[in-house]
Amino acid sequence: MTKLLFVGDPGIDDAVAISCAARWCDLVGIVATHGNAPADATARNALALCELVGLAVPVARGCARSIMGEPASSGAALHGGAGIAGAPLAEPKGELDPRPGVDLLIETARAHAGELVVALTGAHTDLALALRLEPHLASWLRAITVMGGTAGIGNARPMACLNILADPEAAAIVAAAGVPLLWIGYELTRTVLLGEAELARLEAGGRVARTMAGALRFYRERYRRIYGIDGAPIHDALAVLAVAPPERVPPGVLRFEPTSLEVVCTHGPARGMTIVDRRGIRAPDELPPDRRPLPPNVHYAVEIDRRAAVEAVVEALVSLR
Ligand code: BDR
Ligand code: CA
Repeated sequence: MTKLLFVGDPGIDDAVAISCAARWCDLVGIVATHGNAPADATARNALALCELVGLAVPVARGCARSIMGEPASSGAALHGGAGIAGAPLAEPKGELDPRPGVDLLIETARAHAGELVVALTGAHTDLALALRLEPHLASWLRAITVMGGTAGIGNARPMACLNILADPEAAAIVAAAGVPLLWIGYELTRTVLLGEAELARLEAGGRVARTMAGALRFYRERYRRIYGIDGAPIHDALAVLAVAPPERVPPGVLRFEPTSLEVVCTHGPARGMTIVDRRGIRAPDELPPDRRPLPPNVHYAVEIDRRAAVEAVVEALVSLR
């Protein structure tokens, strides 16, 4: 069973991802950071969600702003102002873990050295700071699975995705960390959608599935209105799916290729873009040095079995009570 620490910004699709992690993985903690909503709100959402799903894991609040201190971005247009609109989550009864998210990250990785996978589905601020603070962290992590960036179309900007634009300098640190990285871009996740049939199945399920259905209906409506996309995307759940054990999710649903990925940290219209080398160059030596691919630093998702991915997510949600 994959030992997973979830670092995200719940967020509707983050909430789906956490629920899937509860079903597929050994979830050992959550760091709730800025992105879709302020960190206070995402932390409250994470706690409320844990209580709904019956997860007794530490939930720590992550950073409120990017490393460079830019004003926190917002996903209110898609997720509602408090981060998970459409789902009546009860006010949490439990308390947040007293540690800052960076400390929870480091201590959890130390405790599970060699085993821990970090699922990164919000801003990269906390993981980047943790990597800087604890020089052994990179060697303790088994892998990082990221939903973010894009090799094509973006959401926050024409060619940039919110999770990277929220803190490009942090994302650049993560991309260069030297930890095995599975990286799933927005150009792919925007095509994996729950439609009416899947939402109806969730509505016929238990409390968790029904709550997710409410949020996903809201999400679908917002995606339809803003981007003309017909369906509720499950972006962040795909980062968890990528590391789910084969007894939970059939292997081969996602296909990755070793690729170089650079984060654009300049200010201006390209800020937050990810440059993913998809040229498929076979003979780099025959190119002038400045046109050769950089050494691969990520495994980038290039193909997905959409039907299998959607089925796995729906099955996970309806199996939770
Ligand atoms: C990403 O942006 C956020 O709004 C979602 O939660 C997801 O992590 C999709 O680009
Ligand atoms: Ca997210």
